[in-house]
Amino acid sequence: MKDLFEKIYRDKGPLGKWASHAEGYFVFPKLEGQISNRMKFQGKDVITWSINDYLGLANHPEVRKVDAEAGIEYGSAYPMGARMMSGHTSLHEQLQDELAAFVSKESSYLLNFGYQGMVSTIDALVTKNDIIVYDVDAHACIIDGVRLHMGKRFTYRHNDIESIEKNLDRATKMAAQTGGGILVITEGVFGMRGEQGRLKEIVALKKDFNFRLLVDDAHGFGTLGKTGAGAGEEQGVQDDIDVYFATFAKSMAGTGAFIAADKEIIDYLKYNLRSQMFAKSLQMQLVVGALKRLDMLRTMPELKENLWKIVNALQSGLKERGFDIGTTQSCVTPVFLQGSVPEAMALVRDLRENHGIFCSIVVYPVVPKGVILLRMIPTATHTLEDVEETLVAFSAIRERLKNGTYKRLSAAVVAELGE
Ligand SMILES: Cc1ncc(COP(=O)(O)O)c(C=O)c1O
Repeated sequence: MKDLFEKIYRDKGPLGKWASHAEGYFVFPKLEGQISNRMKFQGKDVITWSINDYLGLANHPEVRKVDAEAGIEYGSAYPMGARMMSGHTSLHEQLQDELAAFVSKESSYLLNFGYQGMVSTIDALVTKNDIIVYDVDAHACIIDGVRLHMGKRFTYRHNDIESIEKNLDRATKMAAQTGGGILVITEGVFGMRGEQGRLKEIVALKKDFNFRLLVDDAHGFGTLGKTGAGAGEEQGVQDDIDVYFATFAKSMAGTGAFIAADKEIIDYLKYNLRSQMFAKSLQMQLVVGALKRLDMLRTMPELKENLWKIVNALQSGLKERGFDIGTTQSCVTPVFLQGSVPEAMALVRDLRENHGIFCSIVVYPVVPKGVILLRMIPTATHTLEDVEETLVAFSAIRERLKNGTYKRLSAAVVAELGE
């Protein structure tokens, strides 16, 4: 019989195989200093384009003050226990009421983490007779929620309405046999490439098909829509989203998440969400901090305006210089280049060491082989000077990628590990 660990000793996985060259630099890097447009990486100043602090709240003095005061008042333990048992407070309720009002839903419920919360929400919404239809490029938390599902599931081609229709048709036939219903799951904004989920078109399919819609709006909440209520508001279909989900980990620069829906649905989820029933309640400091952040989202439209000023400058600047930024319809700004993983490593090293630009790098298997995706997250704390410096740097690295500099620099890595 094999030792359980044998596979681990033998194969580190598609990303793990790069660990000896990547860890501490390309993956698990340590960004130091206050969260902002400029931080330190390995002792050097860098412009940071990889932090989801869209509205610049993470280090806003008013936010820091409230966080600190809440820490002093409540410590980091309160309340103890799960919401149902001993971890419930009026401030948790107040935050839920305010979140529900902000996203125009009757009711909402807090989740300790977006990831677990989404897994649990999917789990609670379906039984084995129900069918799930979801976008093939959905976030891992959706995929893992679907993994728990004991019944049938269908993926549709990314953001492809024809494919959704085809799969809804299959799901409808299947549901007729099982006696279940259909749950469609998509994202408000797809976080890698930045395109919005086609909520308007999906909602229009409700005329022909009977389904409920769950939307993960992690990147849309706070950044899209007139009031910042997200992709549903932006596309004018918030009322038709049956269950709306967002995390505090991005625009709210915090920890935690929430779901919002009709009161009867939230009342059901309150009693059936295993991630909340069997886990400690969201810590009070985070609740108080979220109330402050939400208030700022509501009352300081200039935060979103500043964010979009930077987004527009960065995206139009990249396009003017001939960069391929794909089909983004949000703040998420991808830059697609062609090259191998070792070339990508040499390129990013050049960007960080010689140009002081820190952005995330995404390579195979997350994107197809031969594609290098530099993923940039603009925030309200960036300046137009940051954008200009970054554009100049990007032009320089593209030139070096084309003239084979990175191929030469990465030859030793290729010899050792292959491409
Ligand atoms: C689309 C999406 N959904 C869910 C999550 C998970 O949220 P959290 O970080 O609160 O667990 C993320 C990442 O943070 C995300 O990008």
